[in-house]
Amino acid sequence: MLERMEGADNGLACLHDEDYDVPFNKQNLNSSMLIFTGGRKAESLNGEWNFCVDLLDTGLRQKWFSFTPEAPEDKTEPYDYDPYAGETVPVPSCWSMLKDKWYFFEGSAWYTRSLDLEEVRKDERLFLRVGAAQYDCKVFLNGEFLGNHYGGSTPFNVELTDHAKPGRNWLMLCVNNTRTLDRVPMRNTDWFNYGGIYRDVELYRTPKTFISDFFAYLVPDSSYDKIAVELQVNGPDRAPVTVEFKELGIKSEVPIDEDGFGKLVIPSKPELWSPEHPRLYQATASVGEDRVEDMIGFRQIDQVGTDVLLNGKPIFFRGISVHEDDEFTGKVLRDEDLEQRFRHAKELNCNFMRFAHYPHDERAAKMADREGILLWEEIPVYWAIDFKNTDTLNDARNQLQELIKRDRNRASVVIWSVGNENPDTDERLSFMKHLVDTAKEMDPTRLTSAACLVNHTKNRIEDRLIQHINVIGINEYYGWYEENFDDLIDFLDNSEPGKPVVISETGADGYIGEGKLEKGFFSESYMAEVYRKQIATLRQREFVKGISPWILYDFRVERRQNMFQQGWNRKGLIASDKKTKKTAFKLLADFYAELKAKN
Ligand code: GCU
Repeated sequence: MLERMEGADNGLACLHDEDYDVPFNKQNLNSSMLIFTGGRKAESLNGEWNFCVDLLDTGLRQKWFSFTPEAPEDKTEPYDYDPYAGETVPVPSCWSMLKDKWYFFEGSAWYTRSLDLEEVRKDERLFLRVGAAQYDCKVFLNGEFLGNHYGGSTPFNVELTDHAKPGRNWLMLCVNNTRTLDRVPMRNTDWFNYGGIYRDVELYRTPKTFISDFFAYLVPDSSYDKIAVELQVNGPDRAPVTVEFKELGIKSEVPIDEDGFGKLVIPSKPELWSPEHPRLYQATASVGEDRVEDMIGFRQIDQVGTDVLLNGKPIFFRGISVHEDDEFTGKVLRDEDLEQRFRHAKELNCNFMRFAHYPHDERAAKMADREGILLWEEIPVYWAIDFKNTDTLNDARNQLQELIKRDRNRASVVIWSVGNENPDTDERLSFMKHLVDTAKEMDPTRLTSAACLVNHTKNRIEDRLIQHINVIGINEYYGWYEENFDDLIDFLDNSEPGKPVVISETGADGYIGEGKLEKGFFSESYMAEVYRKQIATLRQREFVKGISPWILYDFRVERRQNMFQQGWNRKGLIASDKKTKKTAFKLLADFYAELKAKN
């Protein structure tokens, strides 16, 4: 029997053991393990990896990770898969996009590659970094299970130091994208459930003591005359860390406490970062042999009453929502795709983008810093979530912590959103308040929000979460899902939000391909009419401080199958080719140009 393979405790037991996966679900690779990588040398592990889909988790049952390399002709027992031979796929990639037979595949898949290390020096530490793997990623090195990470859009690290050996090592990642009741998001989303390792995989070497976190910001006390640095050191030494901002004439020693933490407030009046003036300063931090760096923009964002203030001045978010989705690469983000996204946002005269509904590739926020585009970043607490489940809360909180640790040096990020279109229940309120509190604890320099639903019973803004967030996101589809468009102005007049409102979604499908309609639902002209009426109405109410219509590009989704959708959501201002603009594009661009000129 196959299950008698080496490493399987008792062959037959494997066939009857449905708790086979319990030992491999520690979720121990979390935000506390993340290391700061700015300025570090990354050794790329991208490229061809051996690959096998594994729908029934035969790999965990038979313990494929315990197999050792052996030529086929030398095998002495039958086997179902050899991790060291056979088909390969490129990393990063989404398996859904590689072969038709994997398009809708949901389950586990095994990635295997060698890792050749000339030496593992005694005075250095070795870390694996995975930019993102959708959803659960179990890590094995030389047959040893090192842990697993939950969350499909945030990076994680694994320390390999005491597990790697000089010479050839074998790295195996088992990635599982199954939608389940306890995950974040749960089972039902309006975006495609890609699977795979779809961002970079890298190796980092650090000294025994190194800087694992580095956060620099303008102290948000409206004096604009001091900056703060927060540092976390990992390792035995507690020598002070030297931080330097050459252009500001700053070179300071930050004392490190017994827990490895250090914070210093330094008098300085940097040029302020803004969309009009996206000024960045090079920052370095060093201790012993370790040195990290980052590009920092200094700015202050506040919510005062129904206003959002950037550096003390009221702003209006001229936005657009964006998914991370591509006709050819799925969720893998190519540089040219990112450049095109920002080019289109600028053509729309945007100063804001909503990165929906999950953390996007970290290159996007770095580009926003350089381009001067403000960002709303979000974790996928989307629609129905098991709000009663503490494991689910821990998963959501960890994804938020990983996002904040990854991006809190990004001046462009001004809003952390803790969810989208969740029901206003007691359990959801408690769950989301925990997340809002986490964001505030980790980062005093940003606003919190969530995309809330219209209370259709009363046709007004009413959601108990609002008391805990700074900016009220509202997804409203008057003219599309809410057919009586005239209810929009009533909705606005019925609402006394008391805080700034961002219309985080509005729009309509417009199909422009083969067999398109000239008028009516799903026609380009109807979509344009919805935009005309939305713009004309929303601009009438002062407490609306921003709009991020849904959405820049058509995007892939399983649940949209009518003859105009064919597996796509067609609300894009630009079609899925990311070239063909629909009529509504210019309507929004002209509106934003008018607002921009008034500024
Ligand atoms: C919802 C949801 C989006 C979805 C959109 C739509 O508001 O937040 O994820 O794609 O509406 O129905 O197109």
